[in-house]
Amino acid sequence: MANKTLKISDEELGKTVSFPLYEGTLGHPTLDIQALNKEYGCFTFDPGFASTASCKSSITFIDGDEGVLLYRGYPIDQLAEHSSFLEVAYLLMHGELPSSDQFAEFEAEIKGYSNIHENLRGFIEGFHYDAHPMAMMVGVVGSLSAFYHSQLDIDDPEHRRISSMRMLAKMPIIAAACFRHTTGEAFIYPRTDLDYCENFLNMMFSSPSEQFFINEADYLDPLAVKALNLLFILHADHEQNASTSTVRLASSTGANPYACIAAGIAALWGPAHGGANEAVLSMLAEIGDVSRIPEFIARAKDKNDSFRLMGFGHRVYKNHDPRATIIRKTCHEILAKQENPDPLFALALGLEEIALKDEYFIDRKLYPNVDFYSGIIYKALNIPVEMFTVMFTIARTAGWVSHWQELMADPAKRIGRPRQLYTGKGVRDYKSFEQR
Ligand code: ACO
Repeated sequence: MANKTLKISDEELGKTVSFPLYEGTLGHPTLDIQALNKEYGCFTFDPGFASTASCKSSITFIDGDEGVLLYRGYPIDQLAEHSSFLEVAYLLMHGELPSSDQFAEFEAEIKGYSNIHENLRGFIEGFHYDAHPMAMMVGVVGSLSAFYHSQLDIDDPEHRRISSMRMLAKMPIIAAACFRHTTGEAFIYPRTDLDYCENFLNMMFSSPSEQFFINEADYLDPLAVKALNLLFILHADHEQNASTSTVRLASSTGANPYACIAAGIAALWGPAHGGANEAVLSMLAEIGDVSRIPEFIARAKDKNDSFRLMGFGHRVYKNHDPRATIIRKTCHEILAKQENPDPLFALALGLEEIALKDEYFIDRKLYPNVDFYSGIIYKALNIPVEMFTVMFTIARTAGWVSHWQELMADPAKRIGRPRQLYTGKGVRDYKSFEQR
């Protein structure tokens, strides 16, 4: 794999060392600096890991300059157009698209795990009604580690596969149960006659109560189900992002996988990551009117103001995020069917147009990311704003479990343990209270 080397010379030490330069299937060449400390007695300094590849992976590829996203080699726009979320989950986990028999077996197995232990509901009921659903998700998914541990052998690939299937199956049930807890409505049991996305929508919105009733024909409308599948596909994986890297780091210690996924959920919650979809809607609501866009653009550019344009910018994409382009198109389709289209969509389009003509955003290559438009679709599906990042969690579980399986099967796996550049005090002697 190392078809080139890069020589690094140190005049003082009078030596030159060749480091292997790996060429992956696609993407930037990657310098293997594992021997750096041994050869030169120094570390590399890379805050935010902007220049560091933490692992080899064959799951997802992003070309941020060209705006390309591939899952197992398949372009995201092809999967978004032709596939379902569960089929994409199979692809991410297994590396190939399933045959129809393989898919039927996969779906049946997911349905088989689609239940939660009644005691787990006790954890949900223990939360205050106004707890943020992401806070509940971190706790409840983490608590799965207390339910599935005694016969779990994480060194056995079959155990890892089963744990992954369980997480994929249970995530929407836990998510819907958390939502119902916040509204005070009864928990709805999963239905095996519905597919993955339909079942989730049914657990969210099915209600015998007139007060909360949303017509089944509306929440199971084929366009709504298609839109949910699409959003789940687009959010399913994104290589070594902050939450996936968190899952990998936690897993590298050999920890229980359900606890590791809970760590990923915590990382996803932040507004710089998956929490951005919720923050975008709050921002659009605050802007309120097209006439106020210039004021908010000026704030985003002001270095003395902490305000950032939420849903804009990305560590890897320095071009259009292909996911945002697909979602924008679907927003048009969904809102075209509405009697009173959401005015926030027009506001978002206006904001994008003005920002993309602004030198600040042009110079820094800041484009709308996946979360700029996703909230508008979720809102159209009656998903409340606090649930947006939970929706992301359900989808990203497919990626997290695939990366967990890849890491655990990697013979080169080591505990993740970065070094540091120490800037604290030098050695000094302890002083008693009287001496201080
Ligand atoms: N609004 C205004 N300015 C921005 C924005 C923004 N949304 N994003 C980046 N910038 C500016 C920075 O101020 C910086 O300017 P400078 O060079 O003059 O100092 C420059 O662009 C580079 O920004 P960094 O923060 O260094 O970029 P980084 O790669 O570290 O951060 C991030 C990427 C976190 C996504 C950032 O763009 C951001 O905060 N965006 C808003 C939050 C968001 O939408 N997050 C979702 C990301 S997608 C996802 O996780 C699903």
